[in-house]
Amino acid sequence: MKEEILRHLSPEYPWKDRFHWYPELDSTNDRLKILSREGAPQGTVLIAGRQTGGHGRMGRSFLSPGGMGVYLSILLRPQCGPQALMHLTCATAVAMCDAVEAAAGFRPGIKWTNDLVCGGKKLGGILTELILSPQGSLEGAIIGIGINCCQQARDFPESLQSIAQSLSMVSGKTVNPAHVAAAMMEALYRMDGTLLTDHEQTLQRYRRDCVTIGREISLLRSDAVRHGTALDVDDSGALVVRFPDGSIEAVNSGEVSVRGMYGYL
Ligand code: BTN
Repeated sequence: MKEEILRHLSPEYPWKDRFHWYPELDSTNDRLKILSREGAPQGTVLIAGRQTGGHGRMGRSFLSPGGMGVYLSILLRPQCGPQALMHLTCATAVAMCDAVEAAAGFRPGIKWTNDLVCGGKKLGGILTELILSPQGSLEGAIIGIGINCCQQARDFPESLQSIAQSLSMVSGKTVNPAHVAAAMMEALYRMDGTLLTDHEQTLQRYRRDCVTIGREISLLRSDAVRHGTALDVDDSGALVVRFPDGSIEAVNSGEVSVRGMYGYL
């Protein structure tokens, strides 16, 4: 698998010597955190054939069966403070739309903030984790991405069949995970090059891909549910929501469900 991914990378991809493939890991993000503390360089990429403890936002698990998807984490070491990376998940999501478009021939949407979707179902997710020093300065950023590539509906557990799908299901074609993995690595390399300079342009692209904007949403925060309409994504990547009393808030945390997606009616 490693050789096949390397074959799909362009000659210009500069981090080939920092790419590690494992048949199985608990979580590529967790393993990369350890390597980061040991001094792994910018651009280190881990890919696992399967994960036994893949996880996403809010402690949720991310199902990572062998041979079905790409489970990838990359370590970046941007020269900036943590505040300058507020849009990191947005930039990654746009980069992953580029990668899917290049490898599978269609452009997915983004469900704010970190899900890749198509037709109201989830194709993949992104988990970004910043590594800070005890003084609060930025030591690195770990970005983990999982994308369902080869599953058919029957390959998902019954509880997920109405909310999850794969690149093969959407494209109606066989999708090669090695090709997808290489496209993800290339897109992440390009994203790193413009991360601190193209903030505005990245958010404009994010808004174009984000299917949450203009939709009715429900926001679950501290056990309370509020309904509203998603108006926009602001320059920090927060979701701008109008609530029924007319108030408008930039939402940065909590679980946002979008009406018409993931079975939310
Ligand atoms: C989410 O859906 O909330 C994010 C899912 C992120 C999953 C990826 S798979 C590779 C990396 N390793 C993990 O444990 N998580 C991320």
